[in-house]
Amino acid sequence: MWNYTDKVLDHFRNPRNVGRVEQPDGIGTVGSLACGDALTLSFKLDKQGRIADVKFQTFGCASAIASSSALTELIKGKTLDEVEKITNKEIAAYLGGLPDQKMHCSVMGREALEVAIHNYRTGETTVKNLEEKIVCTCFGVSENEILRVIRENNLSDVSEVTNYCKAGGGCGGCRETIEELIRQVKTEREAVKPTTASPRKLTHLQKIKLIEEIVDREIRPALQKDQGDIDLVDVEGNRVTIAFRGMCAGCQVSEFTRRDFIQAKLRECVSPEIVVVEEKK
Ligand code: FES
Repeated sequence: MWNYTDKVLDHFRNPRNVGRVEQPDGIGTVGSLACGDALTLSFKLDKQGRIADVKFQTFGCASAIASSSALTELIKGKTLDEVEKITNKEIAAYLGGLPDQKMHCSVMGREALEVAIHNYRTGETTVKNLEEKIVCTCFGVSENEILRVIRENNLSDVSEVTNYCKAGGGCGGCRETIEELIRQVKTEREAVKPTTASPRKLTHLQKIKLIEEIVDREIRPALQKDQGDIDLVDVEGNRVTIAFRGMCAGCQVSEFTRRDFIQAKLRECVSPEIVVVEEKK
């Protein structure tokens, strides 16, 4: 049994905007019944170019239904330029997180949106470039899709990639290529390191101070908005131990908060090598 948040269950039991918009401006379908998930998203714009109506039809699990429903709520009233910036992480965050093994549902929502926008702009019904290199033939996942989920979600092993886009979850024949793509993104990150937030090699003391500063300035205020909090317990090398406090302690989605918010923020601002763990109780 999956550990779903109340918001996932609510969107699963009471999905918003189900169906198909009549005479849509844009429509996109991704996935396939053979792979177990499929989603069609259609939208209509108002005179200002904002999404006035959006509907979805999906075949899939509770997470696929909830992610699709959440996506429609997230994009209603926005311009296409605004919705193009929405990532799968935002869809998952809107739902209070998804189980790791179900993150591919949020990716499917973002992909359907891309296809629908592409359809509005070009009349084509797919954005899949026929010349695109398919890495995972079991699930039809291209190299570009895999690179994108690795980059956007800071993924570092094959099982994570499988959770986010299914690639590698069948015969396993593509796992070696996925490992190469993970290494490629790691190399890219290391190449840009000197120009980003960590231009110099930090001493251990400097690293601790920077982590404290990011926790106080960016992380704690966000958690406190929901009556949560964290304590920084220890920093050993790149391993940062934290303890959740307030509403975050024992929260159903604390795992998501730890990895996709706190760890992602510290990787972005301090070092891509940071690993955040929760203090053992
Ligand atoms: S080719 Fe990717 S799992 Fe089979």
